[in-house]
Amino acid sequence: MVSAIKAPGIPATFEPVDWNPPGLPTDGDEIMARLVDPAQRGELYPLYHQLRRVAPVYRNRPELFHGAYAFTGFAETDIIFKNPRVVNDPQVVDEAFTHGDGTFTSVMRNVMLWQHPEPHQRVRTLVKSAFTPRAMARWRPIAEQVANELCDRMEVDDHAELVDQYNYELPFNVIAKILGIPDDDFPIIRQLAWDFARAGEKSVTPEVSARGDAAARAFMEYFAELAEERRRAPADDLLSSLLEAEAEGTRLSHTELIANCILLLQAGHETTQDLLGNAQVALFRHPDQLALLTERPELMKNAVEEFLRYDASVQINHRVVLDGMTSGPAEIPPGGMVYIFLGAVNRDPARFADPDRLDVTRDVTHHLAFSFGAYYCIGAALARTEISVGIETLLARFPHLRPGTGSFEWRNTLQLRGPQRVDVTW
Ligand code: HEM
Repeated sequence: MVSAIKAPGIPATFEPVDWNPPGLPTDGDEIMARLVDPAQRGELYPLYHQLRRVAPVYRNRPELFHGAYAFTGFAETDIIFKNPRVVNDPQVVDEAFTHGDGTFTSVMRNVMLWQHPEPHQRVRTLVKSAFTPRAMARWRPIAEQVANELCDRMEVDDHAELVDQYNYELPFNVIAKILGIPDDDFPIIRQLAWDFARAGEKSVTPEVSARGDAAARAFMEYFAELAEERRRAPADDLLSSLLEAEAEGTRLSHTELIANCILLLQAGHETTQDLLGNAQVALFRHPDQLALLTERPELMKNAVEEFLRYDASVQINHRVVLDGMTSGPAEIPPGGMVYIFLGAVNRDPARFADPDRLDVTRDVTHHLAFSFGAYYCIGAALARTEISVGIETLLARFPHLRPGTGSFEWRNTLQLRGPQRVDVTW
């Protein structure tokens, strides 16, 4: 386990939630202010519903969020994701991730997600090509083995804290193994991954920033050495496939290779950790669905899509509208900035009937938890495997799983959403 000091979380309970409580602000800017402030946020979805009622594409005042447009409607968002001239903005790195001595920042500049559209597309094609059918066939057995080992460890007791003991460990171990990191290195890599992730959050302290820079430096050295080993002796892992990846006569440069190994590791664990936690919270708040899924594990494929729709772990996509566009009454100028609230669009009642009800039998054909279009999550198939194995194994091993206390805590971040503590018993 990492030596993790967690920020105070947002207290919540497993009681049913009133998704449309009275007394919410009716001014869009006030709703936005509450959304982004952990001290005022409370339950997230009532605020999303309220903002969508004000306008599914809401323009902030110029002094707030650069006057960006906040998207909470599904139809509006679907259109914007399908527009190739709506792109990720590399400038975000300079605005959001510039601190410390610049090492962390330079890694963030080099990951594909924050590159200009052309290099992004080239690198993305190369990285995707490393996800071969042969590689993908290894994922489920690895996830099952890790999940069962974690359950073995929890089983010696009659209670556990799921976030640290299960939800973090499962995806961390799986992505680390898939990448080709030797098991003996996990303790050091786990600590680096934690420090790196904290440096990407909002309002970092100088200490967090320094730890992020140190982690970035150590990661670069580590992956450079591991890549050298794999170049000499390729193995059955993602790093070896990335070294071999070639498309249209190009390969990943050394800098691209290292930065995107770090991206895959980082994008590949806390996101899934949070989704597992959100799924557990949703099940505990809907005991009938928990009982149904425990009895009928064959519903898991549907359930995974419903968990993703119901409470996504990545909540915000930020984009720039290069040519400008019209969305309903909203006129977005060329270069206009957009914040897409993925959790809100996935609970738009115009798209999903009774959206606040978790229904593991629901046939969700298209949700936006993994984004859509040019930046669609490269790890979606791996994440689906991990969520499916993660929840199925937990319910099979602990068929009487239930909250150990009446309350839990949400992380205080908004970009990444998930519980930071869930006590259970069985
Ligand atoms: C439930 C778990 C996950 C969720 C909800 C999720 C969600 C997302 C979202 C919304 C994006 C788009 C980001 C943006 O446009 O700003 C994204 C991109 C990405 N994800 Fe995931 N993700 C998950 C798991 C994973 C895993 C397991 C991996 C690793 C294999 C991964 C790797 C990536 C990468 C590399 C990108 C960047 C794609 C690009 O730049 O084109 N994700 N993910």
